[in-house]
Amino acid sequence: MSSAAATSVATVPNEKSPVEIHKGINGLEKVILRDIRGSSVESNFKPPKPIRGGIPICFPQFSNLGSLEAHGFARNRFWIVDPSPPPFPTHSSNKKYVDLLLKPSEEDTKIWPHSFEFRLRVTLGPAGDLMLTSRIRNTNTDGKPFTFTFAYHTYFSVSDISEVRVEGLETLDYLDNLQNRQRFTEQGDAITFESEVDKIYLSTPTKIAILDHEKKRTFVIRKDGLPDAVVWNPWDKKAKAMADFGDDEYKHMLCVEAAAVEKPITLKPGEEWRGRQELSTVPSSYCSGQ
Ligand code: BG6
Repeated sequence: MSSAAATSVATVPNEKSPVEIHKGINGLEKVILRDIRGSSVESNFKPPKPIRGGIPICFPQFSNLGSLEAHGFARNRFWIVDPSPPPFPTHSSNKKYVDLLLKPSEEDTKIWPHSFEFRLRVTLGPAGDLMLTSRIRNTNTDGKPFTFTFAYHTYFSVSDISEVRVEGLETLDYLDNLQNRQRFTEQGDAITFESEVDKIYLSTPTKIAILDHEKKRTFVIRKDGLPDAVVWNPWDKKAKAMADFGDDEYKHMLCVEAAAVEKPITLKPGEEWRGRQELSTVPSSYCSGQ
């Protein structure tokens, strides 16, 4: 098996980034360069720090909702490329994919005392859509279940955050991370941005659209098994306070994260969970509907 650093799926290839994934999927970087924000110029590439950009995987804990480091340890680990991945039942021959595997090290089991196999399939569709499918299996031999929260922490590249709208989350309940995770209900309009935002939208639809007027593009997120959606932009003050982020980069990024946060997932030994996120783009004349 060849080993690869995979702390953040889909980071823009550069000499410091974990490029093995890009070798695995020919042409993937063209899609990513366009719509997924690559690693910040200020990113710290020294393990075990996460890379700011791409799609960090938050597992087995989202944010600081538990005793582990923020967003869990999966995003800070080296993953393995599976050289002979099993076919998915729905796999079609015009899709290219690579499977990454994560299993806990002895050190990991000291901080999270469970055995698991995490298989992340990264699939590139013929039209350039990017699909991430996570399969997490409880491989505990002591009969114990485990519980986790999860997010695809996707950094979208936007032309100007002030011109961006998110559709699909209006009228939903959310927990506001900036107000002690109190619960509120979103108003009827699409979400726009004029200050820091850090919200966990609950029980969201399977489709969310990010409209970027300047780019004349709409990013479409389709998800399965991931009921929640986190929306985050640090805005100016927090961006300045983040050592691994450029002061002005907040203007050109938006995180919309397919997630399972409110209701943690529990797996008994032998059980498997699946969470899927599919990203595609369409011209901005596209009218979003469910
Ligand atoms: C978001 C969280 O998912 O990630 C925010 O909702 C957090 O609260 C942000 O600030 C960035 O997290 P990190 O650990 O990558 O700095």
